[in-house]
Amino acid sequence: MYIRSLKVRDLRAVATARLDLLHPGRDDGKLGGAAGSKPRLDNVNLILGENGAGKSTLLDGIALGVLSPIIAQAGFRPHYLIRRGPAEKRADRSTLGIDMVVHRQDGLKKGNAARRRVETSVERRGDFERIVGYDDSHPIWEGMFSEESPAFLIVGYGATRRVESSATVDTAARSKARQLRYERVASLFEDQFTLRPLTSWLPEWSSRNPGRHKQVVNLINRLSGEDVRFTGALERGEYVFRTKRANVPFSALSDGYKAFIGWVGDLLYHVCMGCPKGMKLVDNKGVVLVDEIDLHIHPKWQRTIIPTLARALPKMQFVFTSHSPLVVGTLERVNIVHIETNRLGRPVLRRPEEEIYGLSADQILRSEIFGLESTRDPSFKAHLDALSGEAATGDREAAMTFMRQVAQGKGAALAEESPEAPEWVKRLAARST
Ligand SMILES: Nc1ncnc2c1ncn2[C@@H]1O[C@H](COP(=O)(O)OP(=O)(O)OP(=O)(O)O)[C@@H](O)[C@H]1O
Ligand SMILES: [Mg+2]
Repeated sequence: MYIRSLKVRDLRAVATARLDLLHPGRDDGKLGGAAGSKPRLDNVNLILGENGAGKSTLLDGIALGVLSPIIAQAGFRPHYLIRRGPAEKRADRSTLGIDMVVHRQDGLKKGNAARRRVETSVERRGDFERIVGYDDSHPIWEGMFSEESPAFLIVGYGATRRVESSATVDTAARSKARQLRYERVASLFEDQFTLRPLTSWLPEWSSRNPGRHKQVVNLINRLSGEDVRFTGALERGEYVFRTKRANVPFSALSDGYKAFIGWVGDLLYHVCMGCPKGMKLVDNKGVVLVDEIDLHIHPKWQRTIIPTLARALPKMQFVFTSHSPLVVGTLERVNIVHIETNRLGRPVLRRPEEEIYGLSADQILRSEIFGLESTRDPSFKAHLDALSGEAATGDREAAMTFMRQVAQGKGAALAEESPEAPEWVKRLAARST
């Protein structure tokens, strides 16, 4: 299954929105791609926008809109989903329309792919909100009600994701607490939800299905970069990783690696469980939602994380959110959706007008999608602006020298303490601090 679009009305802060998504095999002409050319990454979507713009809300909307026939009974309690406005304009329901593509993996009998449109609502009743799922009587939805079935694979990771410590994992209790399909997206809705550690499922696969075990080990290594290697060896119940300095167990890895390998391990569990027998993991189709993909990740790694994930699992459709210009710079405009806020304070979704791929982080931060006037400290920028004004009327040569040095990053020190800086430069520096 892939998602073509999500239509939202009155969900959290989002009054109305339509989100069109790229997926493998989709002709991207309608999404603003170059006619006839295939995007570098045809399985990636990245949602951008300021804090509170509605990025996480859209990820929640996708998960709810797809899983609504089962999610209401799966331990999920809707909470402030219906948009709250001024008392006189309060909405009584939210609606979520999903347009999806289903495949043989989802139970399609004829042809390789077909479109399905479904509508979900969240309705207010007294003090409660409840989910009203779409009509699931058609046989195509059968797979949704089987935990073993590879159909309708959708996995989501919220910004507070963390992995359960392997010492406390109780697989039976987990299975009883939440329905598997809801568990796959639970971290989008529950801050305290913990993900499955690798040790809770992977060791068993080494004897049960050594081929698949090898595929998982290779995938973890491909995804986790060169600095940390997954050995696949166990030491006192924990997996051992080879770092530059030593072999260390999972719990001793740095926070960045623990967080990344934590959610990637959980993702591979669901990709493995949801993969039909005889099919390679990398051919498994489904949807992966990841909020704040750059969480804990160093800039060096941010420059490769999305292309690496997208190429390692090329048949998965990814929907990410991020605030990182380095992440944005690895994608083309067809991969990007920006949430702007209009005059009425309502979100408007747009793709960037200009090509983004290949721009530097500074250029991206100053482009329409981040909209920064400058990436410098605001008070230093104010003092620079004042300087350039002064340069027009004051000591031109001294000002130009100063400006050149600013361009080399020496501005702050010079303005405060350099004996060469003219008096009026020092005065300005003093005024702006
Ligand atoms: N029921 C509701 N009615 C109206 N507004 C709501 C409701 N629930 C949440 N909000 C508002 O919706 C916004 C939350 O949107 P969301 O969490 O999707 O933002 P975001 O783009 O993910 O931001 P961030 O980058 O900070 O994670 C917040 O401004 C919040 O105050
Ligand atoms: Mg968010």
